[in-house]
Amino acid sequence: MVPVKFAAATLFFASTALAHFRIPYPGERNATNWDTQTTGPCGGDNSVVEPRFLFNPLGSPLDLNMKHNLSVGQVRFCPGDDCTTQADFSVILVDSYEHKGVGNYCIPAVLIPFPDGTNGTIQVIYAGTGDAEGEYDHMFNCLDVTVSSEGEQFSGQCTNSSNVAITPIHLDSNLVANATNITILNSFYESTMSAAAAASATATDGGMAGMDMSDMCGMAGMSDMPGMSCLTTAVASATQSVAITTRAVSSASVSSSAKSTSSSKSAGSADSLRMGCLAGVAAFAAALL
Ligand SMILES: *[C@@H]1O[C@H](CO)[C@@H](O)[C@H](O)[C@H]1NC(C)=O
Ligand SMILES: *[C@@H]1O[C@H](CO)[C@@H](O)[C@H](O)[C@H]1NC(C)=O
Ligand SMILES: *[C@@H]1O[C@H](CO)[C@@H](O)[C@H](O)[C@H]1NC(C)=O
Ligand SMILES: *[C@@H]1O[C@H](CO)[C@@H](O)[C@H](O)[C@H]1NC(C)=O
Ligand SMILES: *[C@@H]1O[C@H](CO)[C@@H](O)[C@H](O)[C@H]1NC(C)=O
Ligand SMILES: *[C@@H]1O[C@H](CO)[C@@H](O)[C@H](O)[C@H]1NC(C)=O
Repeated sequence: MVPVKFAAATLFFASTALAHFRIPYPGERNATNWDTQTTGPCGGDNSVVEPRFLFNPLGSPLDLNMKHNLSVGQVRFCPGDDCTTQADFSVILVDSYEHKGVGNYCIPAVLIPFPDGTNGTIQVIYAGTGDAEGEYDHMFNCLDVTVSSEGEQFSGQCTNSSNVAITPIHLDSNLVANATNITILNSFYESTMSAAAAASATATDGGMAGMDMSDMCGMAGMSDMPGMSCLTTAVASATQSVAITTRAVSSASVSSSAKSTSSSKSAGSADSLRMGCLAGVAAFAAALL
């Protein structure tokens, strides 16, 4: 028997499995936008969030924490206060790259080519494998910044995860969200998703392709969520007998958020990690049903 609480939690989180990256350093507009992260240009959050992060004209660090095994990313910029459409993000700060492996890409110096005092919004776009070969799930997050010599320069605020490999990649569009032929994602889909689909005729959540279930620690903070306190027990009592390895949240990724370029702004990465894990566990649970 599947307990009621388990079923409710699964339904609540199932849709969140599609969108999975965060900006632990310096932070993003909304660290819990799982439900809307696939909505461009800013993951569902189209208003400026103040205070703005200060970005040094010589470059400040940006840490991107990705939950999918393989994705293609890009960092763009919109100068000004009115950054509400994709076309506004016309400046490429970090051109398209392949992000292989679950974990952190720590960019030591993101350079914003505008003078001191310029306000604007940084946009991070990722594309991951979607429901079909050649269809991609796009994920978006934004952060609001001011170019300022008071902005921090790199001094170890974040590190690359050891299993993450970053490689520049040329796409058929200079905008990742417009690229139509992302060969590496197609191949990845072929090699993993078609096999997974064959293994489970009932699998409908193609958006989970490439998610690393081994990293879904999930249990931290579980009791905070209404109806979620019994998930461990519930999963254990589901008909399929599945061992879930509970891992401590990596202290490295948590500490990467400890500092912020703007004194009154805190990154909220502990929260975001918890949500990531929750979403992941629920997605995993959903896959069992
Ligand atoms: C963050 O995004 C979620 C999901 O879209 C939304 O429910 C929540 O209100 C947002 N939080 C803030 C502070 O905007
Ligand atoms: C930048 O935004 C801040 C508020 O975040 C505002 O006080 C300041 O006047 C803006 N600067 C410019 C040049 O618009
Ligand atoms: C992370 O990896 C990229 C790509 O290899 C590299 O350019 C960057 O310097 C690395 N970040 C850090 C903090 O070493
Ligand atoms: C992206 O595609 C839209 C139409 O879907 C088009 O209007 C826009 O110009 C494209 N942008 C780029 C940078 O190719
Ligand atoms: C997709 O890109 C590959 C090279 O990366 C190319 O060989 C192939 O012809 C392209 N396919 C389409 C439909 O554009
Ligand atoms: C993702 O990578 C992990 C190892 O890090 C592996 O166990 C898992 O099968 C991979 N998932 C897919 C869909 O390739």
